[in-house]
Amino acid sequence: MEKKNKQSEPSFYVNFEKVYARNIDNNISLLNFLRHNCKFTGTKEGCSEGDCGACSVLIFDEKGSLAPVNSCILKVGQIIDKNIVTIEGASKLSSAKPLIQALNSKAASQCGFCTPGFVMAALALKEKYKNPSESVIHDSLSGNLCRCTGYRPIVNGIQSLKEKIKFPMPINSKGLKLKTAIFGKTTYIYPDSKKELIEFISKEKNYTVLSGGTDWNLEAEDSNFKEQKILFLNNIKEMSTIKTKTSSFEIGACVTLSKFEELCREFFSPFLDTIIRFGSPQIRTAATVGGNLGTSSPIGDLAPLFFVLEAELSLLGPKGERTIPIKDFFKGYRKNALKRNELIYKVKVPKTKKEDSIFSWKLSKRYDQDISTLSLAAKLKMDKNHTIENIILSAGGVGPTPLLLDKTSKLLKDSNLRFNQNSLITALNHDISPISDLRGTAKYRSAAMVGLIKKMQRSAISGEKQHSIMSI
Ligand SMILES: Cc1cc2nc3c(=O)[nH]c(=O)nc-3n(C[C@H](O)[C@H](O)[C@H](O)COP(=O)(O)OP(=O)(O)OC[C@H]3O[C@@H](n4cnc5c(N)ncnc54)[C@H](O)[C@@H]3O)c2cc1C
Ligand code: FES
Ligand code: FES
Repeated sequence: MEKKNKQSEPSFYVNFEKVYARNIDNNISLLNFLRHNCKFTGTKEGCSEGDCGACSVLIFDEKGSLAPVNSCILKVGQIIDKNIVTIEGASKLSSAKPLIQALNSKAASQCGFCTPGFVMAALALKEKYKNPSESVIHDSLSGNLCRCTGYRPIVNGIQSLKEKIKFPMPINSKGLKLKTAIFGKTTYIYPDSKKELIEFISKEKNYTVLSGGTDWNLEAEDSNFKEQKILFLNNIKEMSTIKTKTSSFEIGACVTLSKFEELCREFFSPFLDTIIRFGSPQIRTAATVGGNLGTSSPIGDLAPLFFVLEAELSLLGPKGERTIPIKDFFKGYRKNALKRNELIYKVKVPKTKKEDSIFSWKLSKRYDQDISTLSLAAKLKMDKNHTIENIILSAGGVGPTPLLLDKTSKLLKDSNLRFNQNSLITALNHDISPISDLRGTAKYRSAAMVGLIKKMQRSAISGEKQHSIMSI
């Protein structure tokens, strides 16, 4: 009897030991659970918003590879049956000791508050790479802030270790798969098939769809609500995988930004400049493609990329799937075409043709770990004389929704990219309606958009890799 009760209780693994999520009376974050319930106080709380990395822990995916994640914006309900490693667990692993010693020997810590988070990010890096380049090290630390040591000793510490770090395999949960779990006034529902998902959305009305939680968990109230149901999507395999078809990719809505990054590395490499600046490695471990479109934010980084790729969205409702072009999805500021009880199930992305060039640029107040102020993506086909035969331009941050720049594309089509600046500004003024906010003024956004189009012009004419936003 005791065994049966235990199996039906929500649990997960911390440092390779099973932990039961019992006596929890609210939708608690993993960070608070680790610190208060498990007394693993090595994991620190800094910003509580996914920005500083002090709360980083490692999480294993279904294939056994690990990645850093922010425990402050991850709820316990999202990690049932998963394996987590904290600084306490890592420091007991003989394979992790050389890294900790290397950081120590380079004086990579002063007050030490950020150090557990940096160690977790560095462990994830060194599990993948023996000798990562300096830029790969910088990217891997972009989600961690240190206010006293400075980053040089931390980078030096990582560089001084010339071996890969091996982790034990995660524990495979063989228990009964939970269908629901209750944390105080919050109930998580865990469908693991499309059939179960349709069954749920056909009968329930009041629930929140949740995937990575990197957006919704920041807004969610901790206790000041009556009751809430959370429909957690990530256990549905079809929604978490990328299928390669002859001429397209089918990207499940729960595919994380880390997995999408791998796809871009192979097939859409010019988009990497934007993707590796999407949040941080910790954010990309949890954030999903469907969640990004689901926010319907005008500055979400993925929409412009999918616009120029002419993606279609597969939306799932009680009656099954329907498909719409992404250009018809956004209906107004944070409004979209989803009907009641519908959700994004997949994104269908055609492969680009050999003769197509794609580009993307993101401008933000900070280079790393920042939301876009504005962005531009482009797909174009030119003949040998640089005459544009086809062009699609899309932008974020210059209107209430992500936009297709139709007038501007029309101006550039059939041109040989030697456009007149005044005509460009006139066409852009038809397409965009930027506002001033804390990220930038309307004037800045308009001027910067002209600058990005000129960057596209130079990149396309030179035929080189796209010009970085850091190049003049
Ligand atoms: C520190 C930090 C940095 C960030 N940096 C960036 C950045 O650089 N660029 C950027 O674009 N965003 C950024 N974000 C925002 C966020 O990470 C992304 O929008 C992310 O893709 C959201 O995905 P998620 O799975 O975490 O969404 P969730 O939080 O799970 O969900 C977000 C919203 O979408 C809905 N939703 C989720 N899945 C679906 C679905 N399948 N169908 C319909 N609706 C759905 C939810 O109900 C919710 O309203 C950042 C966030 C943080 C905290
Ligand atoms: S506490 Fe700052 S990222 Fe979590
Ligand atoms: S060592 Fe003090 S914050 Fe990094």
